[in-house]
Order: sequence, then C-alpha cells, then structure tokens
Amino acid sequence: MLGLGTWENTDPEQCAQSVRAALETGYRHIDTAQAYGNEDAVGDGIAAADVDRDDVFLATKVWIDNLAYDDVLETTEASLDRLGVDSLDLLYVHWPSRTYDPEETLRAFDELVDDGRIDRVGVSNFEPENLETAIDVLDADVFANQVECHPFLQQTELRDASAEHDVEVVGYSPLARGDVLGDPILEEIAGKHDVSEAQVSLAWLREQGVTAIPKATSHAHVEDNWLSLGLELDDEDLERIERLDRGDRKVDPGFAPW
Ligand SMILES: NC(=O)c1ccc[n+]([C@@H]2O[C@H](COP(=O)([O-])OP(=O)(O)OC[C@H]3O[C@@H](n4cnc5c(N)ncnc54)[C@H](OP(=O)(O)O)[C@@H]3O)[C@@H](O)[C@H]2O)c1
Repeated sequence: MLGLGTWENTDPEQCAQSVRAALETGYRHIDTAQAYGNEDAVGDGIAAADVDRDDVFLATKVWIDNLAYDDVLETTEASLDRLGVDSLDLLYVHWPSRTYDPEETLRAFDELVDDGRIDRVGVSNFEPENLETAIDVLDADVFANQVECHPFLQQTELRDASAEHDVEVVGYSPLARGDVLGDPILEEIAGKHDVSEAQVSLAWLREQGVTAIPKATSHAHVEDNWLSLGLELDDEDLERIERLDRGDRKVDPGFAPW
C-alpha cells in the first residue's frame, strides 16, 4: 500500500541510494517510468539493497511515444534491460494519449503477459471511459489505475469507477508535490498526532484504500513517509480532510484526456 515514487529523481547515485534506502526501510513497491530517465539507477538501487528481487513489486510505464504495438514490445525489453530484471510486476500505459490506440497498444500488453515479461497490466491517467474501453479490449485484467490523488484532488468519481471494476487505485503526487506541507488544517491534524503533514496525507490515502507512491529523495523523507503506516486518523480528522477537496491538479499536461 506504500511505494516509492521516483519522478525527477534523476541524479543516478542519489536515485539508486533512495531506492536502496526505501527497500531497506521496508518499502516493497517501487514506481518508475521510461520517461523518468532513471530506470538504470532504479535497477542499481534494487540490486544494491539487501532485499530479494522476488520480494520487490516493481512498476514502470510505457511512454506516450512508444504505444504502437511494436514499440510497446521493443521499449519494454529495453526497460527490462535497464532495470536489470527478467520481468516486471506491473507495466502501465503512462497516459491514454498520442500513439495510444486501445486495440493495438493493449494487444502488445496482452502479449507481454502471455510471454511472462510482465505479471500485471496497469493504466495511468485513465478517465472512467478510458478505463471501460481498456477493460473491454484487454484479455488480461486491468490491475491498477494510477492517477493523481491527495487531499486537494480526492478523485471520488474515479475511485468509485475503479472500485466497480476491482481495479486498484495507485495515487500519484500523494503529497500534492509538496503542497500538503504548510496547509493549516493538515498542520493542525499533524500537530494533534505529533506527526508530519506528509504522514497525515499518506494515512488519509491509505484510509481511502488508495496505494500512495510518494517521491522522496532524502533518507529522512523516505523514513518519515514510512512512519505513516503507524498513523490512525480519527473520524473528525477524516471529515476535516474530506472538506479540503478543491479539484487542485498538480499534473495537467496538454495531452491529458480530461
Ligand atoms: N503516472 C503519472 O503520470 C505520474 C505523474 C506524477 C507522478 N507520478 C509518480 O508519483 C510519484 C510521486 O509524485 P510526485 O513526485 O509528483 O510528488 P509527491 O510525492 O506528492 O511529492 C514529492 C515532493 O515532496 C517532498 N517530500 C517527500 N516526502 C516528504 C516528507 N516526508 N516531508 C516533506 N517533504 C517531502 C519530496 O522531496 P525530496 O525529493 O527532497 O525528498 C518532493 O519534493 C512520482 O515520483 C512518480 O513516481 C506518476
């Protein structure tokens, strides 16, 4: 339920170190993407950690320029090489955009499952209608939809649509890219429990059944976020956080499907 995000963790040594620190702290889920330019470093961090590869849940994403049938197959092989692994636990379509064509793209994802190169298919940034189409087209199940989710963008409709189809929700930018820090309500709740605002946001996501993947470069942040697993919010906290929803998107490129 708690993974390590790695977007913009591009310094190879620092990236490998944070992946290793996370795994040795107890994290078992690592999130990267072709577009992050750090799959080599993520692979180095996994190799360096005192944790078996089989115990790590490793996810990457196929970029929007690589979603034609042949390109999915070729670039996934390249991702596997860079990560230094034989197979992936989860491979996402990063966005339903640009070269994405449900029939063609998802046929390649099904083939990767059949060939044992990936264990699960994920989608990311899919709206409910994109999700319905993917479910119809794929032979494999859609395991997860990775979408932006935090107290300021709670994604209730998308979470309901995913739950209807037994699709896990993985919440990206779970700290609102740092903006949860300094929010007066989250600060008060954090003070009440003697924890950080980051922990409050992550505990809230867990309470909603959302898997959070905070990006943390420093060891201190890796550890602080891990401690959220011990935080139980009460009903009053949950109600106060529910009122913070204001449709505040941090990731909104021109090619988004919304
Ligand atoms: N599928 C998609 O399209 C998509 C889009 C965006 C993100 N993602 C994934 O989701 C992950 C997380 O999202 P994100 O990177 O956008 O933002 P985020 O996790 O919401 O926030 C990351 C920021 O918060 C800081 N931080 C982390 N833990 C902290 C703590 N305990 N206290 C104070 N500050 C803390 C980090 O600093 P330091 O780095 O200095 O530790 C960094 O500046 C990404 O890394 C990526 O793996 C996916």
